[in-house]
Amino acid sequence: MTQTAIEFPPDFMWGCATAAYQIEGSPLADGAGPSIWQRFAHTPGMIRDGHTGDVACDHYRRWHGDIALMRELGLNAYRFSISWSRIFPEGKGRINQKGIDFYSRLVDGLLEAGIEPTATLFHWDLPAALDDRGGWLNPDIADWFGDYAATMYRALDGRVKMWSTLNEPWVVTDGGYLHGALAPGHRSRFEAPIASHNLMRSHGRAVQVYRAEGKHRIGLVVNVEPKYPASQSPEDLAATQRADAYMNRQYLDPAFFGTYPEELREIFGEAWPEWPDEDMALIKQPIDFLGLNWYTRSVTRHDENAWPLKASGVRQKSATYTETGWEVYAQGLTDTLMWIKQRYGNPPIYITENGSAFYDPPVAEDGVIQDPLRVDYLRKHLRAAHAAREAGCDLRGYFAWSLLDNLEWSLGYSKRFGIIHVDFETQTRTLKDSAKLYAKVIASQGRILAEPVA
Ligand code: BGC
Repeated sequence: MTQTAIEFPPDFMWGCATAAYQIEGSPLADGAGPSIWQRFAHTPGMIRDGHTGDVACDHYRRWHGDIALMRELGLNAYRFSISWSRIFPEGKGRINQKGIDFYSRLVDGLLEAGIEPTATLFHWDLPAALDDRGGWLNPDIADWFGDYAATMYRALDGRVKMWSTLNEPWVVTDGGYLHGALAPGHRSRFEAPIASHNLMRSHGRAVQVYRAEGKHRIGLVVNVEPKYPASQSPEDLAATQRADAYMNRQYLDPAFFGTYPEELREIFGEAWPEWPDEDMALIKQPIDFLGLNWYTRSVTRHDENAWPLKASGVRQKSATYTETGWEVYAQGLTDTLMWIKQRYGNPPIYITENGSAFYDPPVAEDGVIQDPLRVDYLRKHLRAAHAAREAGCDLRGYFAWSLLDNLEWSLGYSKRFGIIHVDFETQTRTLKDSAKLYAKVIASQGRILAEPVA
């Protein structure tokens, strides 16, 4: 197959992404309060093999070396998240300056290395003290989040020029409040819409506060998984619409249009509340960019037994699946980018996460980790991203998930998403072949992607 030329523009952002609880370790150091993930991880049976984030990648103490690795890859940007309970150990009120100092040092280190820091305010590690007050179910959380956001803007804005409010409100709601697999581990059809709505109100509040306190750019990070119907039957088509409304439009429609998709009423029934107009206006704050986390697609069919959606995914014969059971389908990334362009008015987009878990050995032999499946995934998805740019999507950057192998939430350390391998016994870091490919992509502004695969 002939490959057309590929080239990304000189100002394209090339980064890697991480999240606080997944990499930092030392969760209670320097006066930090516990988060709900700290609590969840220390509750027997919640995380596979009893793993916790107590040490993780020890990034809290090794961040300097990790920046050196980023440099080695040639990254010009890095996406990290701030742990709210390091800043506000009780969730609100008293500020813990030592928590701010940690992120301040990290940001300075990145800037010295010529790497643009981009910060996410919330990547799932809610202060436990706020969960005790109802967490995302308490409407006051929008103000608590606004105060925390203002504190961080005052401390870092200017050095940080690109902010995200929330990471993946869908996962917080679906995993934390509907199905219970993630912290805080609730399983309620009544709670899920409320948690979701308060997440989006909090997003709106943090954007609003940014307009008063900050001078640069702020956006929202969502995960989008495109849904393709398993057949053209009316049942499968309707199931596909429901799945798309629930996972994708539930967050994008209110952020861009100030409305929720109709299908949510059908899905949640009596558990779906009517929301006041002022809430919808708060949520619909203009954002400067959209962060897209993209991993896979779903081929969807009607399924009476799938609670509460009545829709489920169909496994594709002859497709490759990752270790987390996700189909590798790079065309879906192009389709999603084009769908966002068309439906939401071509906003500036950054792919804030994209990556794959495949098996790697726990210890690198002779300093080498060959990860051909991850290499293939990375190459295909970068090409797919480029194709969308060519077709007019305003795509401005790509962040690989993840810089390092890390704590994959309830799956513990059993799934490796890093392009850099971590030996969790010794904390030795080893560049995988995928990291080496990414470095070459960055050095060539993507041109290397057009070359035939050896
Ligand atoms: C999250 C990451 C997670 C990754 C892989 C995203 O949902 O933002 O924290 O590790 O996907 O599951």
